[in-house]
Amino acid sequence: MGESIFDRSINRRNTLIKNRNILQTTYIPDQLPHREKEINNIVEIITPSLNKDKPSNILVIGKTGTGKTAVLNYIGKELLKADPEKKNCSFIYVNCEIVDNPYGILYNISNQIITDHNSKIPFTGWSLDRVYETILFYIDKENKVFIIVLDEIDRILQKNGDDIFYFLTTMNEILKESKISIIGVTNNTKFTELLTPRIKSRLGEEKVVFPPYNPEQLQDILRKRAEFAFEPGVLADDVIPYCAAISAQISGDARRALDFLKVSAEIAERNGDSIITEAHVNSARSKIELDAVVEVIKTLPAQSKIVLMSIIKNHESKSTVVITGDVYSVYKEICSALNCVVLKEKRVADLISELDMLGIVHARVKSFGRNGRTREIELNINKDIIDFVVKDELFEPLLKHKPIKQTTLSM
Ligand SMILES: Nc1ncnc2c1ncn2[C@@H]1O[C@H](COP(=O)(O)OP(=O)(O)O)[C@@H](O)[C@H]1O
Ligand SMILES: [Mg+2]
Repeated sequence: MGESIFDRSINRRNTLIKNRNILQTTYIPDQLPHREKEINNIVEIITPSLNKDKPSNILVIGKTGTGKTAVLNYIGKELLKADPEKKNCSFIYVNCEIVDNPYGILYNISNQIITDHNSKIPFTGWSLDRVYETILFYIDKENKVFIIVLDEIDRILQKNGDDIFYFLTTMNEILKESKISIIGVTNNTKFTELLTPRIKSRLGEEKVVFPPYNPEQLQDILRKRAEFAFEPGVLADDVIPYCAAISAQISGDARRALDFLKVSAEIAERNGDSIITEAHVNSARSKIELDAVVEVIKTLPAQSKIVLMSIIKNHESKSTVVITGDVYSVYKEICSALNCVVLKEKRVADLISELDMLGIVHARVKSFGRNGRTREIELNINKDIIDFVVKDELFEPLLKHKPIKQTTLSM
């Protein structure tokens, strides 16, 4: 083979990470340290299924990155070991982040239950009732217990209300031979407050709470992964404690801690460095924070982006403080240049408050003037992110619209 422009990059890339897959957050490790109590708890509750008895429904509650998905997948694998032919129970996992409507969820469940190709439920087109009846029929035919995990269950509630939970939790009243048991999993620690009483009591027969990890626990989790993921000797001693400490400070989230480690390694590799150090973790931290803010800004509604742009334009053109009235004047001009609806000043003030809540700007109450409250508005994002906002395709027409920009700047 001849030389290729990729050679240098390939050689450099493979020096630190031995197994990239292990650092992915979707990877399920064989051991889950510091979740023994939670695992035992769930195992105790669902063990009756191995004797075809119906276990209580469970709500698994814990912040993001506390190992809920990993634990449930692990339990699913272990259950299969205890009943390899699925004679007494079947474990069904549905991620509601991907399918978040009742049809999609029932379709997904049915796909895991109905093995005969000709009997499968079509991807769309049937009425919900027909789907429901069909699933009931096939579940009952199997004469066993189905444990159905609905991961990220709050997604359904937000979009579609709680009918589907009612459907699923009342199935047992109709089933004759089989039984189902629901494990709902949520990141929202206030989830039960969102449920109507009829669902709350059914879904939350048992509750298992996953607490955030402390720094020592995060270190253990990272060490186990690092052992398999990295070539020996490439991690400086302080890297894992540092990754663990900063993630524990933010949230005790193992996903974030793993992300710090992975991105640090990638940055070190790209730099051609032979050891991953605390400095790489700091770069990783900035990169991850930047990416997170960019993600938030990307998904802002157009009107909020225009308000943000108006704040940016004001800061570019003025050396003095920027107040709500200034922002509103520029906002109106940008709207007219973009041919957008112009919102009332009060509404724009609300959007500024939202940007403040997202941490993108700082709005401090200054005085109570003739037009009500005046606020001083500061930008809380760095130059890279400002550039990102300005380059949003929404604002392309502004580039061609010189006069507007000039009057804006001369205010
Ligand atoms: N106790 C643990 N041991 C090893 N890895 C863990 C542990 N808890 C979480 N993880 C890892 O952290 C990441 C996030 O965990 P996940 O189960 O997706 O969290 P959640 O579902 O609670 O948001 C995954 O890569 C997972 O494998
Ligand atoms: Mg999860």
